[in-house]
Amino acid sequence: MPPSRAMLTSAISSPRQAASGTSRPQSAWRRVVREVPGFCAPRPEARQEGIARRAADGLVRVGAVEDDAALRQSAQESEEDQLARILAESEETERAEKRRRLEAQASQESEEDQLARILAESAATAEAEARARAEALRRADDERKPLTTAEFVALWRATEEGTGVAMTDIEAGTLVRTGNAAGSVSGATQDKAQYGRLFFGATRTVAELTNLKASEVFVDIGCGVGNATMQMACTVGCEARGIELMPDRHIVGHEHMWPALQHAIGERDGPPPKVGEVVLRQADLADPAIAEFLSSADVAFVNNYNEIFGARSCKHGERSLDEHVARVFACMKPGSRMVTFHPLALGMDAEKVNEVRRDRGLAPSADASFFTKAQSTLAPGPTAWAPRGEDVVSWSDGPIKAYLYTRTAQSLEKACFLCTNRKCVGKDIPTAFVNEESLDLVTECIFCGESRRPAERDRGESRRG
Ligand SMILES: C[S@@+](CC[C@H](N)C(=O)[O-])C[C@H]1O[C@@H](n2cnc3c(N)ncnc32)[C@H](O)[C@@H]1O
Repeated sequence: MPPSRAMLTSAISSPRQAASGTSRPQSAWRRVVREVPGFCAPRPEARQEGIARRAADGLVRVGAVEDDAALRQSAQESEEDQLARILAESEETERAEKRRRLEAQASQESEEDQLARILAESAATAEAEARARAEALRRADDERKPLTTAEFVALWRATEEGTGVAMTDIEAGTLVRTGNAAGSVSGATQDKAQYGRLFFGATRTVAELTNLKASEVFVDIGCGVGNATMQMACTVGCEARGIELMPDRHIVGHEHMWPALQHAIGERDGPPPKVGEVVLRQADLADPAIAEFLSSADVAFVNNYNEIFGARSCKHGERSLDEHVARVFACMKPGSRMVTFHPLALGMDAEKVNEVRRDRGLAPSADASFFTKAQSTLAPGPTAWAPRGEDVVSWSDGPIKAYLYTRTAQSLEKACFLCTNRKCVGKDIPTAFVNEESLDLVTECIFCGESRRPAERDRGESRRG
C-alpha cells in the first residue's frame, strides 16, 4: 500500500533534513523509499511486463506501452514536483515559525519596555505623593502647638487621678525615697542617691532661661521620675531626654507616668498638641557610654542642689559627679546651655578671663574661655494652676539659685582656654579643657602651670541651700 501524504510529509521534513537545509527532492524521495514502511517505488520492467500481459489478454491496446512510459515519466516528474512542493512548504512553515518567534520576542521586549516605563512613572508619582505628604505633615506640625504649662499640669493631675497614684504619694513611698535614707549622699557609695523634684513653674523658668526651642534637644541629667523631661517635651515640643541612676525612679517615669500621660494627651479634647519625643534611660551619668547621649543635647538641666553631685556623692577617690557634669558641658557644642543648682568647677568664664587679661595688658580673645555664666534666682509664687503659690522644688519652700552656662564658639572645636600669665606662651596658644585620653579636666596652664582661678562669685556658694 502506498504511504499516505502525511507519512510522506513527515519523512521529508524530518528534523535532520530540515536542519541541514541541503535536502534535494531526489534525496528526500530516496529517504521516503527507505524509511516509510510499506512503500516501494514500482520497478519500470515489472510495470512494462504487466502492460504486455494485459495487451496479450486484449485488455489494453498495443501502443499503451509507449503511453505508459510517457505516463510513468510524467508521474515521476509530478512526484518530484510534489516533493519539491512539500519541501518548499516545509521551508515556508519553518520560516513562518521563525518569524512568529521573532515577532513574539519583539512583542515581549516591548512589553518589558512598557512595564519599565509604567514602573518608572508610578515610582515618580509615589515619590511626588510622599513629598507632598511630608510637606503637608510638616505644615501641620508647624501649625500644631505644644501644651501650655497649665494644660500640662491639668493632664498630669488627670493622669494621677486616672492611675489612682499621686506623684506626692509615689515620692513619699519607699520606692522613690529609698535613696533619701540616712547616708544617701555620704560619700562611699552611689547605691543610694538623694531625690527631690523640680515643680512645674520652675521647670518652665528653666525652659525660659535657656530659651529652649522645639527644634532642640533637652536633657535632664539625674532626672528622677522624668517629670522635667516630660514637661519639656509637652510644653516646648522638643525631643527631651533623661537619665536616672536609681532603677525604681526610672521605672516609675518610664513605665507608668509617661505612658499614662501620653494616654491622657490622646484623650484630650481639641487639636492634638505638638509633643516631642521622650527618651528616658536608666544609666549612671559617669558612664562614658552615655557621654554622647548627654553632650549632644542643646540644653541640659542638672538638679545638683546642695552638692548632692559633689565629693560626697561618689566613691572614695573617684571624680565627683559634678566633675563629670562639667566634662559633659565642655563637650557640648557651642551655643549649648546648661542650668545647674550648684556651680560647676569650670574655672573663669569668658568675661572674667578677658577682664584679667585686659588688666595684665593682654588682648581679649574668644579663646580666653569656653563659656559664659549667668546666675538667677527661682522664687516660689502663685501660678495659673496653683493660685495660692507653688514652691520651686519639692524639698524646700524657699528660693533656689540657678546657674546658666552657655558654650561659646572658639577657634578650636573643643572647649579651650588661654593662660592669663603675660609671660607664658599659653597666653596665645589655646589649651583644651578636657584631656582627650584621661578625660580629666585641665584646670592649669600646660605651659606654666598657672591655675584657672575660679571666679570670685563661685566661692563660698557650695554649702548654701
Ligand atoms: C534631686 S533629684 C532631681 C530629679 C529631677 N531632675 C528633678 O529635678 O525633678 C537628683 C536625681 O539624680 C539622680 N542621680 C544621682 N546620682 C546619679 C548618677 N550617677 N547618674 C544618674 N543619676 C543620678 C538621683 O537618683 C536623683 O533621682
